[in-house]
Amino acid sequence: MPKIVVVGSINMDLVVLTSRYPEIGETLTGEGFMTFAGGKGANQAVAASRLGSSVVMLGCVGNDAFGRELSARLLNEGVDTAWVDVIEEVETGVAAITVAGGDNAIVVIPGANHRLSEAHVQAAERVIRDADVVLSQLEVPMPTVLAAARMARKHGKPFILNPAPAQKLPGELLDLVTLITPNEFELATALGCKGADYTELLDFLPGRVAMTRGAHGAFYSCSSGTLHHQPSFAVEVVDTTGAGDTFNAALATFWHLGLAEAIRRACAAAALSVTRLGAQGGMPTLSELDDFRARQA
Ligand code: RIB
Repeated sequence: MPKIVVVGSINMDLVVLTSRYPEIGETLTGEGFMTFAGGKGANQAVAASRLGSSVVMLGCVGNDAFGRELSARLLNEGVDTAWVDVIEEVETGVAAITVAGGDNAIVVIPGANHRLSEAHVQAAERVIRDADVVLSQLEVPMPTVLAAARMARKHGKPFILNPAPAQKLPGELLDLVTLITPNEFELATALGCKGADYTELLDFLPGRVAMTRGAHGAFYSCSSGTLHHQPSFAVEVVDTTGAGDTFNAALATFWHLGLAEAIRRACAAAALSVTRLGAQGGMPTLSELDDFRARQA
């Protein structure tokens, strides 16, 4: 059972279902409203746990109903929440998500997620030292992500970073990451080369980028610089929210199998994740993933 530490966000997702996105200034009658557990960090933690990893979550919630519910749901998914801190004076993070035609648009209010600090990472040195993989994203402060990357390097642990939401990455972080997992836009933004061709950008970090392209699968370069493509799997798309988080969790879980195999399984897990509503709704268990892969063979 791989041991994974996730350093990241915990949100309550407030999801509106609609047939199309409203125009600016337009009021549209929607089709439904739901709340789901979310946050890129918590989603990664849940997906990795369902796939059979032993997961410790480092994150922050507010002392409120959302925070209590989200912590309880993580525990219920088998995630160790001993390192989830409750912050008194800030509310739990929320994400307002509009889902239309299987796609989504998201506005995140970070709340307590922005209180996850370098001190939290220092305090958890023991769990990072004992981990097989450290996984993070960018919904928590950059100094915290850097602290996690430094700590992972100090203890010789792979550090996988999903650079989302998109932002330019500091040079030190690019040096420290074992693998970044951007989409096309996030890759250009992370490297400070907006508008550049991704095939050239993949060469910047040979063997250290796995770029996701939704229904087109994933692209990655091996350490020799050769570009590889892993096609995605055909499924009926209900909601793409959380597909990237599932991809990252599967990568971390199957990291020990080597990059190509980990990416193959991560694409299959991400495909399954979009077949149900909610970021965590479609995340597969290990046996669901195995069954799906067997049907594709
Ligand atoms: O990646 C999907 C997640 O992004 C959602 O669960 C939402 O909380 C936002 O953080």
